[in-house]
Amino acid sequence: MTVRSVILTGLILTILLVGGGCQDLGTAPFPHSILSTAGNNQTGKAGQQLAPLVVTVLHQGLDALEGVRVQFSIVEVPAGAIVQTLPESSVLTDPQGRASTVFTLGSKLGMYRVKAEVVSNPGVATVFTLEATEEDAPPEPEISFRSDVLPIFQRHGCLSCHGGTNNLFVGTVPQLLAGGLNGPAVTPGNANESLIIRKTSTTPPFGDRMPQGGPYLPDSITQVFRTWINQGAKDN
Ligand code: HEC
Repeated sequence: MTVRSVILTGLILTILLVGGGCQDLGTAPFPHSILSTAGNNQTGKAGQQLAPLVVTVLHQGLDALEGVRVQFSIVEVPAGAIVQTLPESSVLTDPQGRASTVFTLGSKLGMYRVKAEVVSNPGVATVFTLEATEEDAPPEPEISFRSDVLPIFQRHGCLSCHGGTNNLFVGTVPQLLAGGLNGPAVTPGNANESLIIRKTSTTPPFGDRMPQGGPYLPDSITQVFRTWINQGAKDN
């Protein structure tokens, strides 16, 4: 072999190797696209948690890619909006190539945009457009035991029968929590469980419907009890 032919063979080998290498790069799993699969174009109330935002990462527009890191980020909110949240922002795709997160709309009406981007390949991204179209319901006013609940007990005779007789005292919150023969008269945070609600209902769990002998309480009144109990039966 001449020196010339050795160099030539080396050159051909190098070309073959580099060529082969190029081909390998072409078939390596490299995310080519990200699609929003569910959750785009949702509308809701300000402050509402929306249905999950789901993306699918595909190779050559066909094969799902597992284990690709997707970064979700909030890229636009209406002026002055606060409390919008995206708790799960960096997510790996599952075997179906999917990654998802949950978004809660902020305090202001208008457009919110959430971008989903492939971390290893930032050009590959999609944007979800979400809109708050309705004001959040105003918070329920706080019910006071002394100025709302106790006057009802007085007006409807509860206090005259349960102010020291019939095993139950309803004059104070500690007395209601201590309850009567059948346990606590209120279960804080759970109106449906609470004896004063069950005993004033059309189907008392034992004994008579309260107030004993009637006239019974309209729903508008028992609703005050319910709200006070569900707000924690505070001694306020
Ligand atoms: C006329 C008297 C009378 C009035 C008015 C009355 N109760 Fe009673 N209450 C009783 C008697 C007697 C019992 C025990 C027998 C029974 O459970 O039916 C009782 C039992 C109860 C119990 C069950 C206590 C336990 O642990 O066994 C609750 C709760 C209760 N009353 C709440 C109320 C509330 C709330 C009101 C007002 C809306 C009210 N009662 C009005 C006479 C009265």
